[in-house]
Amino acid sequence: MARVYRVDKEAPDPAAISRAAEVIRMGGLVAFPTETVYGLGADALNPSAVERVFRVKGRPPDNPLIIHIASFEDLYSVAEELDWRAEKLAKRFWPGPLTLVVKRSARVPDATVAGLDTAAVRMPRHNVALRLIEAAGRPIAAPSANKSGKPSPTLATHVIQDLGDEIDLILDAGPTDIGVESTVIDLTSEKPAILRPGGVSREEIEAAIGEVEVHPSALGLLLHGGEAPRSPGMKYRHYAPTARLIVVEGELEVVRSAVAGLADLLMSRGIRVGVLSSDGYRYRANVVRDLGSRSNPLEAARQLFKSLREMDDEGVDVIVAEGWQEEKGIGLALKNRLRKASGGAVLSAEWLLRGLKTSPSGVYMEVMGT
Ligand code: TXA
Ligand code: MG
Repeated sequence: MARVYRVDKEAPDPAAISRAAEVIRMGGLVAFPTETVYGLGADALNPSAVERVFRVKGRPPDNPLIIHIASFEDLYSVAEELDWRAEKLAKRFWPGPLTLVVKRSARVPDATVAGLDTAAVRMPRHNVALRLIEAAGRPIAAPSANKSGKPSPTLATHVIQDLGDEIDLILDAGPTDIGVESTVIDLTSEKPAILRPGGVSREEIEAAIGEVEVHPSALGLLLHGGEAPRSPGMKYRHYAPTARLIVVEGELEVVRSAVAGLADLLMSRGIRVGVLSSDGYRYRANVVRDLGSRSNPLEAARQLFKSLREMDDEGVDVIVAEGWQEEKGIGLALKNRLRKASGGAVLSAEWLLRGLKTSPSGVYMEVMGT
């Protein structure tokens, strides 16, 4: 079992940081908090340490890691041929939840970037992360500290559940601020493209560098045949609870009737149902988790992964979730994570309501895949 050091978020104990940095330098694995989610850190310049990250996460070997840095000089050591947009975004949003995909330097081993000629780099806005990178004296490669495919960890207990037996040390600084991962933007193409929406919004990025593309997968729809994934992470199911997750999208009132109807139908067939709600709307279900007010998407983002994990802990078979369609700000990230977590099980509320009236068994078969 990993050692767990509880540290203060603002002023972490230097002794704990230096022990953790020592583990990184020796090629070990340290889970640490960032402002988004907990990361599973390894020396980004040590291929065998990085390979161990892939092994313990069960991560597909072609999905590269994000390199975490603590100073602007570090950016120049891992990247090459930076254009003005990369520098502008780094200056504007770092430290913060924005990851830049740039041309990598020869210093970065193949293992870290899965053999690509680009690297994803970010400077996290968290004192524990920054102090750890500084003390280690090298960039730290870190994916989210969950088993591959599971919801990302926003608490140290999530890391312990998924990886506690397989890693060396965990720095626990309490819940993370943002709750969803960083925005990933590709700056190596003609027009910059958001590959994964996250903690920095499209609007904020466009205010800094002008118009950007949003890759279709950033909306969380599954890629259809023929479209090459630009971010290797795009092609895998992500953030998924163990329970089957159904996302219901449409106009809010219709969504609520449809979610309530589907929960009733499933419970009547003996299925243990969790509902992911908002605005404190009162559903009848075995377990209900509420993301809070729809007018506060930042709070909803903070709660999302934790709520999915809690419903798994409660042993539900199916989670029925109100969809998130407001794309403003962090809304785009919420919509993306919900859709991806469902593995494409996104249903139209109107279709569902009609089906519940005309053919409940049809709906049941569609939802349960039997
Ligand atoms: O907020 C975050 O970004 C967290 C914290 C720990 O920093 N990290 C995180 O890492 O979410 P991970 O590995 O779970 O997600 C990294 C994403 C993946 O979708 C991956 O495919 C993409 O970044 N990525 C990494 N390197 C890339 C590259 N060179 N080109 C395109 N996409 C890349
Ligand atoms: Mg991840």
